[in-house]
Amino acid sequence: MEYSLQADQLTKLYNGHLSAVDDITLRVRPGEFLTLLGPSGGGKTTALRLLAGFETPTRGRIQIGDRIVADDSHFVPPEKRRVGMVFQDFALFPHVDVAGNIAFGLRGSQKDQARRVERLLSLVGLSQFAERMPYELSGGQQQRVALARALAPNPDILLLDEPFSNLDTHLREQVRTDVRRILLETDTTAIFVTHDQQEALSLSDEIAIIFDGKLIQVATPHVLYNRPVNTQVARFVGDANFLPAEAHGMTADSLIGEVKLFHPKTGRVDLMIRPEALAVNFEGQGKTATVLWREFYGHYQRLGLALADGTELIARAGVDRYFKRGDNVSVSLALPALAYDAVSHQVLS
Ligand SMILES: Nc1ncnc2c1ncn2[C@@H]1O[C@H](COP(=O)(O)OP(=O)(O)OP(=O)(O)O)[C@@H](O)[C@H]1O
Ligand SMILES: [Mg+2]
Repeated sequence: MEYSLQADQLTKLYNGHLSAVDDITLRVRPGEFLTLLGPSGGGKTTALRLLAGFETPTRGRIQIGDRIVADDSHFVPPEKRRVGMVFQDFALFPHVDVAGNIAFGLRGSQKDQARRVERLLSLVGLSQFAERMPYELSGGQQQRVALARALAPNPDILLLDEPFSNLDTHLREQVRTDVRRILLETDTTAIFVTHDQQEALSLSDEIAIIFDGKLIQVATPHVLYNRPVNTQVARFVGDANFLPAEAHGMTADSLIGEVKLFHPKTGRVDLMIRPEALAVNFEGQGKTATVLWREFYGHYQRLGLALADGTELIARAGVDRYFKRGDNVSVSLALPALAYDAVSHQVLS
C-alpha cells in the first residue's frame, strides 16, 4: 500500500459559500507524521473533521488505505473509519478511571481488553495510574491518557487537533517529545494540526501549509524553512528579513552588498534572509549597522539591527560575544539568499 491516506480535491463549503476547505489534495505515507500548519480560521480543524468523518465533504474524495470513505456516492461514518482522534481539550470521560477511558473503544473479551489497556498504559508511562480518575491527573498525564485511548483500537491513522495547546510551555515540550516517540515506536501514521510553526518544524516529517482553506505548500520542515514558495509562507514559518535587490544570475546587488542567490534570477527581486544567515561582527567587511535591541535566549541572541539608511534587519548570533543596544557592528550574508519576484512574491516566475 503506497499511501495510508489520500484526499483529492477535498472541499467544504459552510452556508453554501464560505470555503472552509478549498480543493485540498494530500497524500500521507504509512508511518509518516504530517502536520497541517496555518493561521487561525484557516480550515485545519475542518480538514481533520472531514478526514475523521465528523463532516461530509461538499466535493472531493477521501481514501484510507485501500478503502474509499467519502466521495459522491460513499460515506463511511467515523466509528467505521479506523481513525483515532486526539482533541485539544483531551475530552476524557470525567466519571471513568484511566483504564476505563482507554478501554472505551475496545472490542473482544475482558481479558484481551485488559491486556491491551495494560500495554498502552506502559507505552504512555502511566502503568501506576490505571485506577486514577481524570481529575486526579496533571494536564500532561491527561494528554497521555487521551493518546492511549486514541491508539487503543489500533487505528490506521491518528488525527491530533492542537493536542498540546492546553499545556504550559515546559510540559508542552516534554509531552510532544513523548508523543513523537510513542508514534514512532508504534509506527503510527499521524496527521497533526497546529498553528505553532516551531512545533510543526520540530515534530513533522512533512508540513502542509494551509491559508484560507487552500493548500499552499507541502514540504519537509527543512525545505519549507529554507525555500518557502512565497513571501507569505516565508514569514509564517519563521523570522524573515526582506531586502530589495537587483539580480544578475546567481548574484544580486543589495543594501548589504553583493550577495549569492539560491536560484538564478534577473531584475528586481526581494531577498529573503533568515536571521541566522547574517554574520554579525564587531569589525570586518560588510555593511555597518547599529544594534537597536537584543534578546538573550541562553544559547543564542536575537538582534535588531539598523543599516545606515534606517532599514531594519533581525539577526541571530551565538553567545561567544555579547552585543548591546547602540553597538556598531558589521553585517554580511553568510549563506545564499532566496530571491522572490518583486511583483508576484513567488520564488519561481
Ligand atoms: N460549523 C461551522 N459552520 C460555519 N462555519 C464554520 C463551521 N466550522 C468552521 N467554520 C468556519 O470555517 C473556517 C475554518 O475553520 P476551522 O475551525 O477549520 O479553522 P482552524 O484552521 O482550525 O482555526 P484554529 O487555528 O483557530 O483552530 C472559519 O472561517 C470558521 O469560522
Ligand atoms: Mg482548529
